[in-house]
Amino acid sequence: MERVVFADLWKQILAENGLKTFRDIYHCHNKQRINSNRKRNVSIIHLKVGGEEKRFYLKRFRHSHLKDIIFIFLNAGRFYSQAAYEWSNIKLLRKNNIGAPSRVCFGEQFRLGLERRAFIITEELKGQCLKDFIVQNYEKLPVSEKEKIIVSLANTIKKIHRAGISLPDLYVWHIFISKDKNVHGDDEYSFAFLDLNRMKRHVNSENERIKNLGRLHYSMIDKYFDDSMRRLLIETYAESTGKKETDKLLRRVKRYSRKYSKRRKTKQY
Ligand SMILES: Nc1ncnc2c1ncn2[C@@H]1O[C@H](COP(=O)(O)OP(=O)(O)O)[C@@H](O)[C@H]1O
Ligand SMILES: [Mg+2]
Repeated sequence: MERVVFADLWKQILAENGLKTFRDIYHCHNKQRINSNRKRNVSIIHLKVGGEEKRFYLKRFRHSHLKDIIFIFLNAGRFYSQAAYEWSNIKLLRKNNIGAPSRVCFGEQFRLGLERRAFIITEELKGQCLKDFIVQNYEKLPVSEKEKIIVSLANTIKKIHRAGISLPDLYVWHIFISKDKNVHGDDEYSFAFLDLNRMKRHVNSENERIKNLGRLHYSMIDKYFDDSMRRLLIETYAESTGKKETDKLLRRVKRYSRKYSKRRKTKQY
């Protein structure tokens, strides 16, 4: 069994680019591979949209394990392919006014009731990857601007958690940042989140939220972030529940961040 599901008017646009079936898309040509492991790979593809060439991201899943299938079942309460799950996670984030990529289509292929292969295409996010933004701008930004970014990010994460959503892969390289003017004409930062195939729903465990913050903390490397900025993140997130509470939360976040970084090499940027 296989199927491809398109959002809005994308079926027509992809057909104009010669992409109609699961096979057409999964094996499309001129992909620019950007990452790959045994179970997943992501490529940039270029499609003509209204005569203009635009960039999209094609994420392909294969060799799904039983544990992936069970993970999705426990979170969504039904069997989804990896791609369909990421697709519905994007929808849930956007419904909660949280930035996530725009969906183009997803496809899934089952054999004997088990997921064999799947893919999802998303539009390239506007703005810039937070990691690249930090590398290019952070050192020369005034402290007030850095604080503005940290405070907005903390508030956005709070919003995610209030919606009962957990992002276990919350690292600076999975966040996109954009700067826009708000209704008063002031600069305002907003964020969008990527890599959502491990997202969890209906979460109200404090431990889970601390782990999300701990992963983010781990990805905010010393080269750019000092203790005061990391503290500001947690302070804002904790919504001034008092110094004692903030200290306690920060300790727990740091403890998880240290534990996590022992398991892997810290990604430098
Ligand atoms: N819609 C998108 N817009 C911009 N960048 C994207 C988009 N989708 C993926 N990427 C880039 O591709 C990388 C890999 O995608 P990701 O979903 O993280 O795959 P993986 O699960 O293999 O890590 C991301 O870290 C990001 O840099
Ligand atoms: Mg990723």
